[in-house]
Amino acid sequence: MTRVAVAGAAGRMGQAVCAAVEGADDLSLTGRADPALGVALADVVGDADVVVDFTQPDQALDNARACLEAGVHVVIGTTGFDVGALRSAAEGASANAFVAPNFAIGAVLMMRFATEASRHMDGAEIIEYHHPAKLDAPSGTAARTAELMEGEVPIHSVRLPGIVADQDVILGGAAQTLTIRHVTTDRTSFMPGVLLAVRRVAELTESPVIGLEHLLWPDG
Ligand SMILES: NC(=O)c1ccc[n+]([C@@H]2O[C@H](COP(=O)([O-])OP(=O)(O)OC[C@H]3O[C@@H](n4cnc5c(N)ncnc54)[C@H](O)[C@@H]3O)[C@@H](O)[C@H]2O)c1
Repeated sequence: MTRVAVAGAAGRMGQAVCAAVEGADDLSLTGRADPALGVALADVVGDADVVVDFTQPDQALDNARACLEAGVHVVIGTTGFDVGALRSAAEGASANAFVAPNFAIGAVLMMRFATEASRHMDGAEIIEYHHPAKLDAPSGTAARTAELMEGEVPIHSVRLPGIVADQDVILGGAAQTLTIRHVTTDRTSFMPGVLLAVRRVAELTESPVIGLEHLLWPDG
């Protein structure tokens, strides 16, 4: 049994992660940390093998440092924080960090196909759509997609009620466009990816690892 604690347990994603961990036979939920529940990460980190962090951009790095210093692996879904600073925190630590800007398998495929398509089309733009409570813009997924694609890729951010997390990558060429579209209808879309990372984070041979693609296609 892998013991899992969730940071941000009262949030939209944290609640979904708690339910997914409770529904998995090989995992046990040992802690729910969230200021909204009156429980600090420090109260639960000692009882966990892995902490899953879905908090906010200004909290994720301190939480990750606290986990790594305690020798506890950390899986981070929070977006909009400084991943470069995480690299220094992870150096020499006995535990591993895994980060994914998007845990939905379809989104990872979208990024892969968009990367390939950008090599063959003349230009591209990204439109990302999220719920209005999202704190960062552009989204971590859009920023990562643009980074992987060839050329300058402008990003447009839409924030509206009724949306979970969608993205269109539109590529243009001679008399043609290609749109690659990923749509989520609910937060369970992220859970298979989160559980995969929880199960694999202890075996990583380098840390931090960034992107679910490294777990899905370890050979590239
Ligand atoms: N990687 C992905 O696939 C993915 C998918 C969806 C959302 N996200 C990201 O996940 C993060 C959370 O999104 P959300 O919609 O659940 O937000 P949310 O606001 O619903 O939840 C965040 C929770 O974190 C809690 N929190 C704040 N500081 C904390 C701390 N120091 N320790 C523990 N808990 C703390 C808050 O009280 C809140 O309950 C955002 O950064 C979002 O962009 C990532």
